[in-house]
Amino acid sequence: MDQATKYKVKDRETGEYFECSQEQSLLVAMERTHPGLIKVGCRGGGCGTCKIRVLEGDYITKVMSKAQVSEQEKQLGYVLACRAYPRSDLLFELAVQEQ
Ligand code: FES
Repeated sequence: MDQATKYKVKDRETGEYFECSQEQSLLVAMERTHPGLIKVGCRGGGCGTCKIRVLEGDYITKVMSKAQVSEQEKQLGYVLACRAYPRSDLLFELAVQEQ
């Protein structure tokens, strides 16, 4: 697949989806099409504000704070959207609830 390939990333709760390329973080793609859906903090994998859980699909992650996503959580699909990049279509749910 070339780098311009766009994957479909779908919100389990609403059924809405947005497109995201391999080179784009899930957070950036989500903000572009669904502003306000997810809260944004540091954009660098440190604050945990953008945490989501991927239920289906493949992705890679860049460095994420272990204080925000433990090894155990990683196994369960939790990622920081600002550090996650799709490698297939994805199904996700938001992990940080409104306070
Ligand atoms: S915005 Fe801070 S961890 Fe993603």
